[in-house]
Amino acid sequence: MRSPVTAPSQGELQRQNDFMLKIKAINDQKEKRPRFMINTFGCQMNAHDSEKLDGMLRQMGYEPCDDEKDADFIIYNTCCVRENAENKVYGNLGYLKHAKKDNPDMKIALCGCMMQQPTVIETIRKKYRHVDIVFGTFNIYKLPELIYTNIESASPVFDIWDKHADIVEDLPTVRKFKYKASVNIMFGCNNFCSYCIVPYVRGRERSRRPEDIIAEVKALAADGVKEVMLLGQNVNSYGRGLEEEISFAELLRRVNEIEGIERIRFMTSHPKDLSDELISAMADCKKVCNHIHLPFQAGSNEILKRMNRRYTKEHYLELVDKIRAAIPDIAITTDIIIGFPGETEKDVEETIDVVKKARFNGAFTFIYSKRTGTPAAEMPNQVPEAEAKKNFDKLLEAVNPIVYELNQKKVGNTYKVLVDGVSSDPLFVTGRTEDNTLVHFKGCSELIGDIINVKITDCKTFYLIGEQV
Ligand code: SAH
Ligand code: SF4
Ligand code: F3S
Repeated sequence: MRSPVTAPSQGELQRQNDFMLKIKAINDQKEKRPRFMINTFGCQMNAHDSEKLDGMLRQMGYEPCDDEKDADFIIYNTCCVRENAENKVYGNLGYLKHAKKDNPDMKIALCGCMMQQPTVIETIRKKYRHVDIVFGTFNIYKLPELIYTNIESASPVFDIWDKHADIVEDLPTVRKFKYKASVNIMFGCNNFCSYCIVPYVRGRERSRRPEDIIAEVKALAADGVKEVMLLGQNVNSYGRGLEEEISFAELLRRVNEIEGIERIRFMTSHPKDLSDELISAMADCKKVCNHIHLPFQAGSNEILKRMNRRYTKEHYLELVDKIRAAIPDIAITTDIIIGFPGETEKDVEETIDVVKKARFNGAFTFIYSKRTGTPAAEMPNQVPEAEAKKNFDKLLEAVNPIVYELNQKKVGNTYKVLVDGVSSDPLFVTGRTEDNTLVHFKGCSELIGDIINVKITDCKTFYLIGEQV
């Protein structure tokens, strides 16, 4: 079913509220409240969408649970950025077929990026007939209506749109953390990096109005949130297409004024759109954390060109220098892809050269995964898996010692740490410094949500160890 893209957002919200009430009435009559579980794959966009699904489900009288085995309603919020993310979903769905035999009332819903691909929908219709509800990335707010239709019709409901409707504001949301929250500032992506599926499954770039973003952050601050993460696939192009002329730098300055908020983070920045104005705003705004995630993907200009990244290695390294000159203690992290079609030994050396020159505080490294429908999937000279794996290991050998060295420089210093949770050793808690480095130190769960001074006493490659001072 393809729905028309017409609904005005507030009217639509009201409609969904009516469905929520109807479903709640049904659930209120049950002997035991049905339990739900959301299994989220992929990036922070999906994690944030799941908070909205969570909010709606609770409002409809479902209760959360932690184990799929206990759940009556299971949602997989899926990702398709790499093939292994998709394989996990198919694997889990196979398992759920048996679980559903034990609990015939169990409902299974699928949503998220993977569902925006017609071939996936075909596969689900053919091979995974035990799935009850399927929807995409553009209509998550319709969950109440889809559940209701499924109950009424007693048959599977598929509702996938191929483009966005209005941005629906004010969905009920249950935040995973009390003291930190994500805020979407924009949706979609216009960049079409040649390897990437995101623009096809998340649609064209559209920014939320600054007044809606500010109102949301103010409400979060009033609710005890100290740290906000402003989310977008390319936050540096925020504002395009809005009535008010506003840049991301200006938005940061406005969020920086909001009382109660102590830390502001954002992701992701695309190097081609990173402006001097933004670097100045980061340097000026006290609450904006001294961390930037700036994916460079590859060091070879030839590969960058074929990736359609629209910057060069030299431009990227210049940006790094400029950022470090303006904000000397900043941590820079990145994303790197190994094994892009046609990548040679020499290209890998170029990538390693960037790693050595930029000296990243952390890097997410990925082996290229062919995504059907993207231009790179059609390119000649796809790199054999064994070769990509070998180069991947070589890359890590360059990345990790630098990360360790940079962490070691922090030993002896004291940092403000926002405590996040209890560590795997229950006597320890974990938290993040302003520059986003993970810290473990002795403490109890009561500290969660506090910002505490921690003196660093030791370090590993991926985290620091410290003590409260
Ligand atoms: N919008 C963000 C990234 C979103 S996807 C940006 O442009 O920086 C997160 C990361 O996944 C990307 O930075 C890239 O490194 C990786 N990625 C995307 N498509 C991929 C693919 N087909 N194979 C391997 N890694 C991929
Ligand atoms: Fe994908 Fe490129 Fe858009 Fe990032 S900027 S989401 S890598 S197309
Ligand atoms: Fe994110 Fe994966 Fe979708 S990385 S935008 S959840 S394809």
